[in-house]
Amino acid sequence: MFLGLDLGTSSVKALLMDDRQRIVASASADMHVARPHSGWSEQDPAEWITGTSAALDGLKASHPKELAAVKGIGLSGHQHGATLIDKADNVLRPCILWNDTRSFKEAAELDANPAFHKIAGNIVFPGFTAPKLVWVKNHEPEVFGRVAKALLPKDYLRLWLTGEHVSEMSDASGTAWLDVGRRCWSDELLAASGMRDDQMPSLVEGSAVSGVLRAELAARYGMSGSVVVAGGAGDNAASAMGMGTVRPDAAFVSLGTSGVLFVSNAAYAPNPASAVHAFCHAIPDTWHQMGVILSATDALNWQGNLLGRKPAELTEGLGDLAAPSSVVFLPYLSGERTPVNDANIRGAFIGLEHVTGAQDMTRAILNGVAFAFRDSLEALKVAGTSPSRVTAVGGGAKSRLWLEAIATVLNLPVDVPADGDFGAAFGAARLGLLAATGADPLVTCAPPNIAETIDPNQALRPAFEAGYQRYRKLYPALKGI
Ligand code: XUL
Repeated sequence: MFLGLDLGTSSVKALLMDDRQRIVASASADMHVARPHSGWSEQDPAEWITGTSAALDGLKASHPKELAAVKGIGLSGHQHGATLIDKADNVLRPCILWNDTRSFKEAAELDANPAFHKIAGNIVFPGFTAPKLVWVKNHEPEVFGRVAKALLPKDYLRLWLTGEHVSEMSDASGTAWLDVGRRCWSDELLAASGMRDDQMPSLVEGSAVSGVLRAELAARYGMSGSVVVAGGAGDNAASAMGMGTVRPDAAFVSLGTSGVLFVSNAAYAPNPASAVHAFCHAIPDTWHQMGVILSATDALNWQGNLLGRKPAELTEGLGDLAAPSSVVFLPYLSGERTPVNDANIRGAFIGLEHVTGAQDMTRAILNGVAFAFRDSLEALKVAGTSPSRVTAVGGGAKSRLWLEAIATVLNLPVDVPADGDFGAAFGAARLGLLAATGADPLVTCAPPNIAETIDPNQALRPAFEAGYQRYRKLYPALKGI
């Protein structure tokens, strides 16, 4: 048996997978985000531990024998978060999350240093870890002075599981401190942020062993022998492991809290100028590129909260795909990464009329996110990558209408996996298997069976193209207002 743990922004999930990669059970616990000021987004790392314990206790109650048989654990987590701990491993302040944009000034300052593009291969986005530490240095010097280690969120879970300070290449790529081509920390980039090498965890590949489960936890869950914990991956690379997006040019579109258009690459292919992320993959000698939009299902969550309805209720009953109306939505609720890298831009509805109703606004949200993915596709093309089809993943992929809009705007077929769970927790369980058995990643990480392919709606392509061209004009017009 293998266990995948995925620390998501809105929930933590524990998934049990058997030796033949069949999912045996899963359990989850909700997570909360605090937004004490505009642009801030924080989580209490203690909640990650209580949530993970609750999910594991759930598995222990429903599947005690299977949980006791676990031999390998893989970790996945939301990326970029700054989890700061002191010498005694005590957490110094709430974790500053991936969608927190308070450190936009510090990010711009670091980004002006050419060493970052050259060595880290990426724009220093405000959501990345390095500018967060500079913000802490500037605003909370007392905290900064006590930082013994800066850990990524899932690596803090690993500390609880194994007692080790370790990270792995895919998540480390999102700190702006990694030499992404050489897969090692860069002393030069650390020094440019006022950080030292000894404040960094050691690094392994995602599919390699990072440590073993602490005896106390193994005993609590009835596990015997040594249970290895794999390096794991940032949630996007972990999803890629789950979806079998490991061979060159394989791609997926992820409709989670954030939206990601992800392509696997055989070689390191940075292109910071197009605001594409170029990161290490979770297996050796492999990289990936992605366009990242900060609010995907989060935009629907926002409307759902306003109307007191669940996001799935908003999309049900919307009917067939239709030409975009006059109402256009910009999904920049917490700024945007690809393609504009603008922490200060905010979301907007344009073109409201007397007759505009809640459903028109929901459609505009779905289309606005689809247009944002098209922006990412254009950015990937500039970076030299042009996928020929994409697989859909994430909670929002349950909406057929949304996938039809995305297929039509991207003009790419969208493959929908057959029922199953191929997300980050499954990818993490696969990494646990790879670390425990040494199996071949390309054989282990087969793509899922495809239930259906959603082709672009050719009749509506011109209308969606016109909608996209209208959408593209809005950012330059709104910027600076
Ligand atoms: C990727 C990113 C998000 C988070 C969400 O760069 O910031 O996709 O990983 O969990």
